[in-house]
Amino acid sequence: MEKTKYLTTPIFYANSNPHIGHLYTGLVCDLWRQVNNVMNSSFFLSSGMDEHGQKVFQSAQENGFSAKEYVDKISGHFVDFFAKYHVRYDYWVRTTDENHEKAAQYFWTQLEKNGYIYKSTYKGWYAISDENYLDVPADYEPTSPNIVWREEDCYFFKLSAFQEKLLKHYEENPDAVYPRSRYNETVGFIKQGLKDFSISRPKDRLDWGIPVPNDEDQVMYVWIDALTNYLSLIGYPDDVYHEKWPAIHVVGKDILKFHTVYWQALLMAAGVELPKLVVVHGWWLNGDRKISKSLNNAIDIHGLTEAYGGDSVRYFLLSNMTLGEDASFRDEVFQTCVNSMLSNKFGNLLLRLTGLAQNKGIEVLERCDLSEELQDFIDKTSKSVNDFAEDITLFDDYIRLFANVLDFLNNYVESHAIWKLGVDDIRKELYSLLYCFKVISVLFSGLFPEASLKLAGYFDCEINLKSALEHKDITIKESLMLFPRVTNND
Ligand code: MSP
Repeated sequence: MEKTKYLTTPIFYANSNPHIGHLYTGLVCDLWRQVNNVMNSSFFLSSGMDEHGQKVFQSAQENGFSAKEYVDKISGHFVDFFAKYHVRYDYWVRTTDENHEKAAQYFWTQLEKNGYIYKSTYKGWYAISDENYLDVPADYEPTSPNIVWREEDCYFFKLSAFQEKLLKHYEENPDAVYPRSRYNETVGFIKQGLKDFSISRPKDRLDWGIPVPNDEDQVMYVWIDALTNYLSLIGYPDDVYHEKWPAIHVVGKDILKFHTVYWQALLMAAGVELPKLVVVHGWWLNGDRKISKSLNNAIDIHGLTEAYGGDSVRYFLLSNMTLGEDASFRDEVFQTCVNSMLSNKFGNLLLRLTGLAQNKGIEVLERCDLSEELQDFIDKTSKSVNDFAEDITLFDDYIRLFANVLDFLNNYVESHAIWKLGVDDIRKELYSLLYCFKVISVLFSGLFPEASLKLAGYFDCEINLKSALEHKDITIKESLMLFPRVTNND
């Protein structure tokens, strides 16, 4: 039996509302989920909220809410935001869920039982915004009030015990991190030497966290709590978790080390199999700065969405960033991208074909066999999309494939000058091209879920390849306007 592919988004800090950076992570995952759905492949996508820790607690206080009220509110905003852009997950985890808390505590007891936890004193600088211990000297001068000095009793994780094991793992599995540049960064980081790190904090300083098992004075470090979400939500420690584990994680480059070093060592320590793959994407920038809540430089995608629809924003974000690299959000690039690809090459192609049918008074196009050329095109395209469904690292190829597919179909219409043919040939060509259009709209439905739903209605098919490949007569209905053109005045 085919094993379910298990894909995870990072869980989002419940300290502020979502922006396009969060959306991008969700979209990359949802695209792969959708491609697997189209191929009828068993798939499970998780997402959710990272709700404990100092950063979240402080935001709740600043906004005048109790921590729980606050995280409930922000979780609701993320759920609505993802729904708006059709990011569809199978499980929404929240680290305040009781089953998560229990699983995280169990995970801790495994680390302890295996001898990888000890008590000591932490002294050093800590960045609240990243919930990260800084590797800087004691006389470091903090550059922001968000960086604070910590000196406290807590538990440590013996990360240093995993240096060699991690290096060996990565030597044997050079494809465990994508892209290769992030793999190299991971290995470089490990080679610099791994130090044990603090994994708890005194409750009297911060009690917004999961209690450490058998020590009522300490709560877990938020990253230990957060990382175990990937296991807790699939039923860990019950055996049922093996049905989905190991996962493929998609993360942004800012949380690379947590996933490719800490998480892997923690799993080794707990005796759990390592993830299949960590896919690392870059940042959306405004100018040359990361879009983030703290810089207050978010792009108004709600305005763009209202004017041009969620599909346009979605397609732009997915197709204008090479997976793993940074990209800047620029209005003129958005405009060119949506107009050229979605409006002209995709939406207009449909209008041209159905318009020609209407001009010729054709109401129904009878099913017929495709020419060798078009059949070959469909076969090859389906095969490439299937390859992507099996391998998420073919993401950029899939995006390029869509552009090539549109060029092929548009060139075909031009070079065959189908409007000049006799009516019987026109019927055959129109059926064949609309059939191709239908299959393409299903194969690439993850790029434009709203349009693909309309097209499935138009062609009377389901959004999966098997249904799209079925040959049936095509009824010419009222023209579909799929993507409004983006204008300069907005
Ligand atoms: N809570 C942690 C993750 C814990 S996972 C066990 C966290 N949360 S976050 O809300 O700050 O970020 C969530 C994801 O959004 C990360 O993958 C991060 O890289 C991504 N993005 C946040 N801003 C971004 C951009 N400007 N561009 C692209 N993605 C970025 O980190």
